[in-house]
Amino acid sequence: MNRATIRGCGMYVPERVVTNQDLEEMVDTSDEWITSRTGIKERHVVAPDESTSSMAITASQRALDDAGLETKDIDLVIVGTATPDYQFPATACLVQDSLGIEGGAFDLEAGCTSFVYALSIASAYVSSGMYRNVLVVGSESLSRILDWTDRSTCVLFGDGAGAVVVSAGPYSTFDPQFVLGSDGSGGKALCLPAGGSAMPASTETIGDRLHFIRMAGPEVFRFATRVVGDATRQVLDKAGLEIEDIDIFIPHQANTRIIDSAVRRVGIPEDRVFINIDRYGNTSSASIPIALYEARQQGKLKRGDTVVMVGFGAGLTWAAGAIQWGTHVELQRQEVPVQIEVVGVPV
Ligand code: UT7
Repeated sequence: MNRATIRGCGMYVPERVVTNQDLEEMVDTSDEWITSRTGIKERHVVAPDESTSSMAITASQRALDDAGLETKDIDLVIVGTATPDYQFPATACLVQDSLGIEGGAFDLEAGCTSFVYALSIASAYVSSGMYRNVLVVGSESLSRILDWTDRSTCVLFGDGAGAVVVSAGPYSTFDPQFVLGSDGSGGKALCLPAGGSAMPASTETIGDRLHFIRMAGPEVFRFATRVVGDATRQVLDKAGLEIEDIDIFIPHQANTRIIDSAVRRVGIPEDRVFINIDRYGNTSSASIPIALYEARQQGKLKRGDTVVMVGFGAGLTWAAGAIQWGTHVELQRQEVPVQIEVVGVPV
């Protein structure tokens, strides 16, 4: 058996930043409410000529460069997204074609959990020896499906993409493990009601604003605080790891209160927990790979480190993964890139 590791990563966020103060001008909200209830200060929003695939392509190229690989080395592309460019063809095929990758490509949709689900598949393929290098991407243009008049959702989400290359690592000391979960009975708590086969687009669905995200926030909150802690414990058990073996814990960045509660329950030391929700909001399937990239840039990930990650979201779904950082290139500590100035608000 080979042991799958993460060999490199990359990210991309659009230039345009929307701050909480910008949102105060648009809906009945406040910086104080958003910050204290979620931890979010600002988020990035795609430009008119950008899309989920364009962000995925840039993040993927950066991940390939970081991994020291060329497109010919990639055997498979998996894109986790709830906001694909089209219902079909798959966004992964657009990435594959743009980068000139020769191999399979498919999208995976498990809400905000998509990245961890996709990573588990890549890990299984690499560990079995079926593929050598798999590109796994989380990319979302959530601003395109947000109701910018609904304060209960529009303040929460942001756009962006993160990508990793999964390869067998010569330095790995344990088999990567994953725990995947779902509870479809909670599906209505977080959904995009119209546009699928159950409720095709019509004048009525547009008039009723049914092509935007609908979320029962408190219900999802209660679900999330429970599953993050439980899934973390389960994946540690499965991998034969203890809390003190975690070098970095990367939770899905949906709400700092969810993260704090789970971290306290499981007993993970605060200095091992990576949080960057303040600058990006909830970027759904992109949040974990973006956090991985930033942790690496900040020198918080080195070869052989144990990464534990937990995702949760629409479905309802959840997933935890324990995998080693298997980079071939060590980075020096670098500062996080300087934030870009506010240039406007969505209309
Ligand atoms: O990644 C996908 C998974 N999604 C999540 O993880 C989201 C999970 N849920 C949450 O993070 C939280 O439930 C929210 C941040 C969405 C909401 O926080 P909350 O503490 O659960 O607030 P709430 O929904 O219970 O609302 C409390 C009050 C309400 O007013 P009343 O009824 O008490 O007068 C809301 O109308 O806050 C009001 N409110 C707002 N006020 C100012 C809701 N949104 C806003 C807002 N600004 N943006």
